[in-house]
Formats: sequence, structure tokens, C-alpha cells
Amino acid sequence: MKLLVVGATGTLGRQVAKRALDEGHQVRCLVRSPKKASFLKEWGAELIPGNLCDASSLLPALEDIDAVIDAATARATDSLSIKQVDWYGKVNLIQALQKSAVKRLIFFSILNSEKYPDVPLMEIKNCTEKYLAESGLDYTILRPCGFLQGLISQYAIPILDNQPVWITGESTPTAYMNTQDIAKFALRALDVPETIKQSYPLVGTQAWKAEEIIEVCENLSGQEAKISRVNLVLLRLMRKVSRFFQWTYNISDRLAFAEVLASGQPLNAEIDPVYQVFGLDQGDTTTLESYLQEYFTRIQKKLKELDYQSQKTKKTKKKRSPFKSKT
Ligand SMILES: NC(=O)c1ccc[n+]([C@@H]2O[C@H](COP(=O)([O-])OP(=O)(O)OC[C@H]3O[C@@H](n4cnc5c(N)ncnc54)[C@H](OP(=O)(O)O)[C@@H]3O)[C@@H](O)[C@H]2O)c1
Repeated sequence: MKLLVVGATGTLGRQVAKRALDEGHQVRCLVRSPKKASFLKEWGAELIPGNLCDASSLLPALEDIDAVIDAATARATDSLSIKQVDWYGKVNLIQALQKSAVKRLIFFSILNSEKYPDVPLMEIKNCTEKYLAESGLDYTILRPCGFLQGLISQYAIPILDNQPVWITGESTPTAYMNTQDIAKFALRALDVPETIKQSYPLVGTQAWKAEEIIEVCENLSGQEAKISRVNLVLLRLMRKVSRFFQWTYNISDRLAFAEVLASGQPLNAEIDPVYQVFGLDQGDTTTLESYLQEYFTRIQKKLKELDYQSQKTKKTKKKRSPFKSKT
């Protein structure tokens, strides 16, 4: 197949592009900055400059394409808001598909988006799901709730760095999933006609609370975490303040999302039927423990290597110094 991946420089999108290439598909990536996306070209993908918010850039990107996998979302640091990218940008994409010969679309939503109308990104995902249902396209909606990759910056690095780990008072058990596993589902959907016009939750093997993840990290790193709790009142206040300025809109919207993670309502779903439909083996899914174990093993090996190198440099300097003093 010839696939167009949107958001291929992102955490999930790059795994989608990689998996698609590994499976032998031809991959075209719609990218805002070809320079930033050069690694995708090295992997074998074709790059086409474009932007979801520039409708005229989308039709040319769809030429000769069989299916689109959209893994784009507004970056927290971007000047474009969530509304501009995740709503108006996605409407542009859906309308471009309707005008083109491409009918197949894989769209990533968020689990339980319909339950949080006050959280802008959740509301937008929910509206997009409804818009897709009316679109006439052959869409499949995949609804993850969190990525294992996000746990590295949120927990593992601060613990290794002896920095505080910020968690909310009541933490929501979340069934994080590896983006490599999510990419597998996205690609497999294209081979399973039963998935057309359907929506599926995508969750990991178990839902974890923040405190439990911290315990796993502490055991694997041998270091104790410094836990800092943010209370919900402060979080809401910060959200209101950041809403005042246009340049902090995205931060305000992310803070709103933090409230979902503090709601205490588990982000998890029944996943067995999903594996059956997709014909994938649940036993192959990465567990949180194995993911973090691999990370800490790799980091500790790297740290040992660096320590060995610095010891070696020190010894070499010591050996050299008598020679230097003779000359
Ligand atoms: N992260 C999570 O825990 C999570 C949970 C559930 C669902 N999801 C969903 O999964 C999908 C992927 O999320 P992610 O965390 O992997 O995203 P990410 O790492 O933040 O990457 C976002 C991607 O979207 C691209 N993008 C942003 N604005 C764009 C625009 N105007 N036009 C074209 N491309 C644009 C970015 O390109 P640049 O490199 O140019 O910025 C980047 O490739 C999203 O739909 C998200 O809502 C994520």
C-alpha cells in the first residue's frame, strides 16, 4: 500500500511510519519542517511539506495514496492552538479526503473523550469522532489513553536525576501502552475490513497509579523518588491564569488534561475483543515493567560506560604528568 502518515515526527507517528516501512509499505509523510523530519527520509519515507492548517497543502499530499494514518496533534510549545490543529486542521484533512479518491483513514482519538466535555482536547476528539461518523469515509478510530514513552520524562528521568516527581493528589489508574504496539494496531486495521467505520479502545496490559509507577522506578533504579503533590485547586487556578494569554492557551489546555489524570476514574477498557478483531496476540504487548526495565538497564549500562571512560581519562592524565614534568 501507499500510505500517507500525518504527524510522523511525533512520538506515535514515528512508530507508525517505521512499522509501515518495515512491513514493506510505501510511506509518504506530511511534514511541516522537512529538516526536522530528515530521519524519516533516512528510514526510507518520502517527505511532502504541508500543514493541517493550510488546506491547500493537503490535496497534493493525497495523490496516489491508498490510506491515511493521522497521528498529528498540537504541540504544547506550538504557536498553533489545539483548536486550530486538532479541530480546524482535522476538518481540513477530512474534507480533503472527501474531495480525493482516498477513503481510508485511521484516526487517533483518546479513551473516554466523551466523558470530559470541559477538557478542550477531549471535547475536540469527541466532536471529531462524530464528524467522522457523518463523513462517509472508511475510517477506523483508535482510542489510546496514554503512552509508556511519556513515563520516561514524567517519572524515570526525575528519579534518576534526584528531582521531584510531580503527581496530583488522587491519581487516575491509567493503562499506558507502548506506541510500537499502538502502531501495530494502526497498520493491522488496514488489513481487517471489519474495522471500517468502527472505534476501538487501545490500552496496555494493566492500569497503573502514579504511586505504583514510582515504586517500579525506585526498584529498578535503586533510587528513592522525591514526590511532590500538586493539589487540584492550584491546578485549576494555574489553568485560569494561563487562559488569559493567547500564547499560553496550549498550556492551559494541557493543565485541563491534568485534571483528567487527577479525576481518580480509571482510564482502562476491556481489550480482549479488540485483539480478537485485529487478530493480534495480547502476549506480545509490552508491559510497563518490561518497558521500564529495558530503559533503566540501558541507562545504567550507559552510565557505567561513561564512568569507565572518565576513570580511564583520569588514569591517562596521571600517567602523562611525570612525562610532562621531565620535558
Ligand atoms: N500522548 C499521549 O499520551 C496520547 C494519548 C492518547 C491519544 N493520543 C493521540 O495520539 C496521537 C499522537 O500523539 P503524540 O503524543 O504522538 O503527538 P506528538 O508527539 O505531540 O506529535 C505531534 C505531531 O503532530 C504534528 N503536527 C502538529 N501540528 C501540525 C500541523 N499543523 N500540521 C501537520 N502536523 C502537525 C507534529 O509535527 P511537528 O514535528 O512539525 O511539530 C508531530 O509530528 C494524537 O492524535 C494524540 O491526540 C496521545
